[in-house]
Amino acid sequence: MPNTRPPFQPIGNAPVFQQLLNTAQLVAATRASVLILGESGSGKEVLARHIHDISPVAHKPFVAVNCAALPENLVESELFGYKRGAFSHASQDREGLIRSAEGGTLFLDEIGELPLTVQAKLLRFLESGEILPLGSDRAVNVSVRVLAATNCQLEKMVKDGRFRADLYYRLQVVPMEVMPLRERGGDIALLAEHFLRQAAQTHGLKPATFTAEALAALKTYHWPGNIRELKNLCERLTILCALRSDPLDVDNLPAEIRGGKARGVALSGSPLSLEEQEKEMISQAMEQAKGNKTHAAKLLGITRYTLLYRLKKHFPDSALES
Ligand SMILES: Nc1ncnc2c1ncn2[C@@H]1O[C@H](COP(=O)(O)OP(=O)(O)OP(=O)(O)O)[C@@H](O)[C@H]1O
Ligand SMILES: [Mg+2]
Repeated sequence: MPNTRPPFQPIGNAPVFQQLLNTAQLVAATRASVLILGESGSGKEVLARHIHDISPVAHKPFVAVNCAALPENLVESELFGYKRGAFSHASQDREGLIRSAEGGTLFLDEIGELPLTVQAKLLRFLESGEILPLGSDRAVNVSVRVLAATNCQLEKMVKDGRFRADLYYRLQVVPMEVMPLRERGGDIALLAEHFLRQAAQTHGLKPATFTAEALAALKTYHWPGNIRELKNLCERLTILCALRSDPLDVDNLPAEIRGGKARGVALSGSPLSLEEQEKEMISQAMEQAKGNKTHAAKLLGITRYTLLYRLKKHFPDSALES
């Protein structure tokens, strides 16, 4: 199946990120294997898609496989395909995911989760360009560029015997590291503004903006969930603060980002429990909705009845629950 996705341009001006895009440009012109490293949510898949999109085979398939999502007993047959009768449920031939990427790019996400037996088979494919479907005695030539990604310490896994050293070296012909968001300085504001615009468009709402103080708080936060966390926050704020006409301020940010600076909330920088987050969201929604419970419930995406129940739970003595 040809690739019909519109090309995706990753956002980021930070020098480390621009350097990464320059490397992407160089590797995109080749068929070399690339190992993409980076914390969860930092944009590894985005980088893989970008490499494919700017490569000479951009019009060919980009097949993304999450190795962690495939059950161990299926991963080999899913990747390499099988012949009819290869095992009891194999009622017809299946070409497998590697062949379905013919001419294009195979993105192996969470490569650290691949079982050792399949690692050996993948290495053979990378070295020979041939695959042997299960139950077949005829090798098939496949021309596919492999991009792999992981947030595991593969080097440590190699030392512990959980990842094959030969495959590790074969994959990381070109290693590329996506920096954590907290090390990308000005990109935080750039991405935040992009995600606010995007969320407004998705939900048909007015695009929100941040005050300079709110942006400063975003910049000092450590972003354990990286870009995904920022994107989700922007979407949540766009929805919850839809009625607000002023820019989003520090007070509108979750407590873990405010770092206990605003509203005198005694948080001592510790992450909030789910209970506390729920309470905080409810109180923000009630504030946005100027006390109108039907509206607050709508903002939170819950029923009025659920809101009443939760108000009673979190604010038993307050006027809020009356
Ligand atoms: N440079 C970027 N510009 C715009 N959006 C981005 C960028 N990087 C990441 N994103 C967005 O952030 C989210 C997480 O990105 P992605 O899925 O690529 O991360 P990942 O490193 O593969 O995460 P995981 O380790 O959980 O698989 C996605 O919604 C993606 O669209
Ligand atoms: Mg990913």
